[in-house]
Amino acid sequence: MKILVTGGLGFIGSHTVVELQNKGFEVVIIDDLSNSSEEALDGITAITNVKPHFEKLDLKIKTDVQDFFKRHNDIAGVIHFAASKAVGESVLEPLKYYENNISTLVYLLQELKGLSRKNFIFSSSCTVYGQADELPITENAPVKPAESPYGNTKQIGEEIISDTCKVNEDINAIALRYFNPIGAHPSTEIGELPIGVPQNLVPYITQTGIGMREQLSVFGGDYLTSDGTCVRDYIHVVDLAKAHVVALQRLLENKNDSNYEFFNLGSGKGSTVLEAIQSFERVSGKVLNYKIVDRREGDITAAYAETSKANNVLGWKTQLSLDDAMDSAWKWEQKIRNK
Ligand code: UFG
Repeated sequence: MKILVTGGLGFIGSHTVVELQNKGFEVVIIDDLSNSSEEALDGITAITNVKPHFEKLDLKIKTDVQDFFKRHNDIAGVIHFAASKAVGESVLEPLKYYENNISTLVYLLQELKGLSRKNFIFSSSCTVYGQADELPITENAPVKPAESPYGNTKQIGEEIISDTCKVNEDINAIALRYFNPIGAHPSTEIGELPIGVPQNLVPYITQTGIGMREQLSVFGGDYLTSDGTCVRDYIHVVDLAKAHVVALQRLLENKNDSNYEFFNLGSGKGSTVLEAIQSFERVSGKVLNYKIVDRREGDITAAYAETSKANNVLGWKTQLSLDDAMDSAWKWEQKIRNK
């Protein structure tokens, strides 16, 4: 069964391609390589012994998208990862984010309508909840006004899909709201490749651990949490990737309760920044140089998932721990820096 994975050479995309191929799906990857490398193709092939079909394609070029779907009208499902994802950059370049994340989604959905099997999985984010009033965060928590254009593209994306599903009953879609994906494949064949100075915690930790960065700044030590630092729900990227396969199978087997569904994907466990640092120190045997500095603008105090909907309805739950994720991220960092 042929599955299209857009952004399939990126961080979460590449791990999902591995899990799809492990389950015997035929994968076609579209990626514009704007924030990924063709080397991920070799990594995927090394892990699975199958080289997925890859086309370098810019989803913003509508005619190229149309041409692609003419050639691949036998696609049974689309998993749509391709998007820009840097929160800070989105504030500076909102139109880039609206074009990259919204126009591409519209083009894909227009083409999906022409397929005989119209199954669609969308990468969404816990950012849609903002600072939720209650923790853990259930799927019933209200969507809050977005803090950034990036976050807004995820909210608008969900609305576009929901509106489309209302009038196209033969389209089946699932939005997956990720908490904080981290880690790498345990084989160290694929992982995260942040360009420039990492904005996210775990790549910054591992780059500091390996000596590329002098010191990790911990943003804020005066939050109302157990140790004063922010709480997040870190989820191993391999667990996250497996959830996509489960969600896809739900659609392929017509097991969905309605033609638009959404699920939180998290571990259900909140960890502070200092706990994440301790996890790194445990798995690496290193002492991390860090300093508590001022809060970062836009950060919420705490977010972690209520996972029972994903556990009971989707039949998926995380199997790997924060230490597992940190260990794989550290092994990946060592591998790419020693190249
Ligand atoms: N942090 C630091 N120092 C750093 C980087 C991060 O202390 O150098 C802290 C942050 O303040 C936060 C935690 O580590 O408390 C996690 O920060 P990340 O940047 O790794 O993750 P965020 O939770 O801020 O961002 C994630 C996703 C975004 C999404 C956002 C919405 O990466 O895509 O959640 O809340 F938009």
